[in-house]
Amino acid sequence: MKNIIAFAGSNSKNSINKALVSYAASKIKNVETTVLDLNDFEVPLYGIDFENKAGIPEKANKLNQLLENCDGIILSLAEHNGSYAAVFKNIFDWMSRIDKEVFKNKPMLLMATSPGGRGGAGVLVAAKSTFPHLGGNIVSDFSLASFYDNFKDGEIVNSDLLNQLNNSVVKFEQEI
Ligand SMILES: Cc1cc2nc3c(=O)[nH]c(=O)nc-3n(C[C@H](O)[C@H](O)[C@H](O)COP(=O)(O)O)c2cc1C
Repeated sequence: MKNIIAFAGSNSKNSINKALVSYAASKIKNVETTVLDLNDFEVPLYGIDFENKAGIPEKANKLNQLLENCDGIILSLAEHNGSYAAVFKNIFDWMSRIDKEVFKNKPMLLMATSPGGRGGAGVLVAAKSTFPHLGGNIVSDFSLASFYDNFKDGEIVNSDLLNQLNNSVVKFEQEI
């Protein structure tokens, strides 16, 4: 059976991006889906001096291995000041030291959500311009604006947005 790795670019215990990623993952049938939590992959702040002294942290290697062994990636990025949350940028930087092809060219459904009206548009622009140079194969994407208005009791309640997500999920499913 194919296996999908899903995770949010956030370390919040109440992450809205984790809620979205879990919801999107639940729509994909007949595949094994693992929803990861970046809190389980806590690594030191990246620095070249730290790397020269101590090498690559084991948890960065572990995440790298999980991506290596999966058939597709669902990722929803938290937006902090228009770009990645520090926790994501940090593990991403470590992983790029293991393998420049961080995302292994595995089909990726890339998403973002935020409480604001732009739905993480800034971090999506950053990811879309950077990931393709780092083994990112973004086959579909989705932004959920105004999370608390549009996502209630574990699902998207706005029908246009729900259609958009369903279309993105179908495109992703066709590529894995
Ligand atoms: C330091 C910081 C910066 C933020 N910057 C943005 C931003 O640029 N755009 C935005 O839409 N939301 C911003 N937010 C709000 C986040 O979108 C919100 O905290 C969201 O819940 C983060 O996703 P998460 O719950 O998955 O961690 C920011 C929040 C923090 C704490």
